Amino acid sequence: MNTKKHSSLDKLVQLLDQGEVVAFPTETVYGLGANAWNASAVEKVFETKGRPADNPLIVHISRKNLVDDFALEVTEEAHKLIKAFWPGPLTLIFKKRPEVLDIITGGLSTVALRWPDHPLAQQLIDRAGPLVAPSANSSGRPSPTHPDHIREDFGENFPILEAGSTNIGLESTVLDISEEPFTIYRPGAIGKEQIEKVIEKTLGEPEESPSQPKSPGTKYTHYAPRADVRWMNIGEKPKENSTLYLFHKSDPAMVGDHIICYRQDYEKMARQLYDRFRQADLKSLHAIAVEPFTDKQLDKFPIARALVNRIKKAMDI
Ligand code: TXA
Ligand code: MG
Repeated sequence: MNTKKHSSLDKLVQLLDQGEVVAFPTETVYGLGANAWNASAVEKVFETKGRPADNPLIVHISRKNLVDDFALEVTEEAHKLIKAFWPGPLTLIFKKRPEVLDIITGGLSTVALRWPDHPLAQQLIDRAGPLVAPSANSSGRPSPTHPDHIREDFGENFPILEAGSTNIGLESTVLDISEEPFTIYRPGAIGKEQIEKVIEKTLGEPEESPSQPKSPGTKYTHYAPRADVRWMNIGEKPKENSTLYLFHKSDPAMVGDHIICYRQDYEKMARQLYDRFRQADLKSLHAIAVEPFTDKQLDKFPIARALVNRIKKAMDI
């Protein structure tokens, strides 16, 4: 049974009103929230995470009309995307209104907005106002999918609105609709094809290594566990006790604490990935070997693209 301190909604609203930062659940990962209209509160988010100032934050809202407070214009296509996917794991990048705090956008002319599909997140935002919220991990650690992960990074007494494990487990899809062609900067649970169907046009391809990345987050080294993350070789059988083996399709017909088979349940793999990374470090494992994905699997399962993106980031490639 969890005997850890539980912070109530009332208490967290009060803290946010006082300009403090608090952690709250969303359907993707936990966020580190602060009032989006309070510059010193937003500043505290960067300090708490140790996040570079030029990596902008997503503003989280709890109803459609709040978009107008941040976005300069909401086009017909934006309305279609909002109708199809909000509340949900899709972040939309709009041209920003001049009032939006520069500290949120890192001086960019755009702002990222998301309406999370989680009742507690919605209640918190309804009461405390729009919240900036990066993932609630210290910079360079995996995003938190459980309150224990937040305590690992920020200590036992950090204020958290607790709701157990998050549903999706990987961060939202980030889609830039501020200029043509619309482009996905970060793959997530909502895939390219689903988006293309709704707006009836083809998305642009993100540049592989732009010298001036459009989405600043993409240039930073992401979490690399102490364990060496690598793709498995063809037909590789688990043999090392100090390696965590993650199979998504094959069944190696072997059992063991460090042999995990997802049998094409990519949603489950997404839900667990960051916890597996953290556990591997806690257990001082030397390596994490992941079964490689084929193009066919990536085409069939949108979340598999997000998985490969996060796994590659952990490999630092
Ligand atoms: O699922 C999620 O999106 C979670 C939950 C808490 O909502 N949040 C999250 O935030 O993952 P964060 O800060 O860890 O990632 C936000 C990403 C970063 O890569 C950032 O660079 C990008 O969104 N971003 C934010 N504003 C942007 C903008 N105006 N233009 C381009 N990229 C932007
Ligand atoms: Mg993050």
